[in-house]
Amino acid sequence: MSFIDSPRLTVIGTGYLGATHAVCMAALGYEVLGLDVDEEKIAKLASGESPIFEPGLPELLTKALDSGRLRFTTSFAEAGAFGDVHFICVGTPQQAGSDAADLTYVDAAVRGLAPHLDRRALVVGRSTVPVGTAERLTGVLRDLAPAGNDVELAWSPEFLREGFAVDDTLHPDRLVFGVASDWAEQQLRAAFKPVIEYGSPVVRTDLATAELVKVAANSYLATKISYINAMAEICETVGADVKDLADALALDDRIGGRFLKPGLGFGGGCLPKDIRAFAHRAEELGVGQSVSFLREVDKINQRRRARTVDLVGELLGGRVASARVAAWGAAFKPNSDDIRDAPALDVARTLHGLGADVRVYDPAALGNARRAFPELSYGESALDVARGADAVVLLTEWAEFREIDPDALGAVVAHRRIVDGRHVLKAERWRAAGWEYRALGRP
Ligand SMILES: NC(=O)c1ccc[n+]([C@@H]2O[C@H](COP(=O)([O-])OP(=O)(O)OC[C@H]3O[C@@H](n4cnc5c(N)ncnc54)[C@H](O)[C@@H]3O)[C@@H](O)[C@H]2O)c1
Repeated sequence: MSFIDSPRLTVIGTGYLGATHAVCMAALGYEVLGLDVDEEKIAKLASGESPIFEPGLPELLTKALDSGRLRFTTSFAEAGAFGDVHFICVGTPQQAGSDAADLTYVDAAVRGLAPHLDRRALVVGRSTVPVGTAERLTGVLRDLAPAGNDVELAWSPEFLREGFAVDDTLHPDRLVFGVASDWAEQQLRAAFKPVIEYGSPVVRTDLATAELVKVAANSYLATKISYINAMAEICETVGADVKDLADALALDDRIGGRFLKPGLGFGGGCLPKDIRAFAHRAEELGVGQSVSFLREVDKINQRRRARTVDLVGELLGGRVASARVAAWGAAFKPNSDDIRDAPALDVARTLHGLGADVRVYDPAALGNARRAFPELSYGESALDVARGADAVVLLTEWAEFREIDPDALGAVVAHRRIVDGRHVLKAERWRAAGWEYRALGRP
């Protein structure tokens, strides 16, 4: 096959985004080389062990390795020699002490790869970056690559959702190709051929627009969540019910119900840092006013965490110190083991800091939580951590928590008190079983 038909792909950075991308592209039939600076991660992937919890990924990883189309390396020289299209999928976390994105890893990836690009190649950024990054990196790439202007940079942001990452990668609802030439677009079309044939629409843009699509989308979603949570704050003051309010709003098809779920709010490795980095970048550009509402969106979101702690305190009659609290959930959302900026762990740690004896259970994220917060206690099941508890607080909406029988749980706790931080339990059912049930924004 010629280059244009089936480019050889590298994936630089094999974390949540990159591991999924590499595996899925190999599953689609491409020759793929995954690269990371984390040797342990690469060893795991190469031996067929998924370094992350992501439904469907382990099976697909095994298949891709067995096909011989997927390999892993830590060598940029190998990646440069192998690839026609190089995807940059490294992290862009929040900088310590600032709201800005930390671009150290993106810069290091480009600088690591560029000296090994001695023939025509396309480098494609998939990480979420502040607008203007791609233009700057285009210069870096051309200066450092032996092939000079034969190497081009494109930006194609990734929209996958953890928990649905495989399906979102194979069948994204859109592909955004930020390119500086027709050639770059052709390479991207070749690199996503089966995805496009399946029906995902392509939006071609310039580099800056592509960078903005991603942060604009995340800002919108974060705003919608904080909007309904702001309504929850009002409901709490007047004794109204935000769940009914949200249900009624959702039936308005101009508004729609998705992301209009009141509760403990958003967290994770994307939304919080992306809205902060966007606000910061807009301020740098002198247009901070345009997205200053994102500061408020962030504050509303943070207040939900504090309010959840308060609700637990109210249920305990103010006696938080030395109370036993069962915390259900650690991951920032269900079907993921990602604990980055997880609201659940924030609440658990605050309660622990107030002197409560907090025991945490999560179906997938216990290992990550234990490593990050060894000061907390952990248990092996939802019932296990609830034994002798003075209050239970549901913090991540895993399906198994929804399905728990209030009577079975009631038999192991010291007191039937529950805070539903995610509005997933049926209040009437729990109250009928003798539980004191509380949820954010509900009477
Ligand atoms: N996780 C998501 O759901 C998601 C969705 C869409 C977009 N994104 C964006 O994708 C990017 C990656 O996110 P993630 O969640 O996969 O992060 P991650 O932390 O899970 O993975 C990043 C990986 O990059 C590796 N890395 C760091 N420096 C490197 C270098 N110089 N060369 C090669 N590898 C290097 C790290 O070792 C790590 O394995 C971020 O910009 C994020 O905002 C993430």
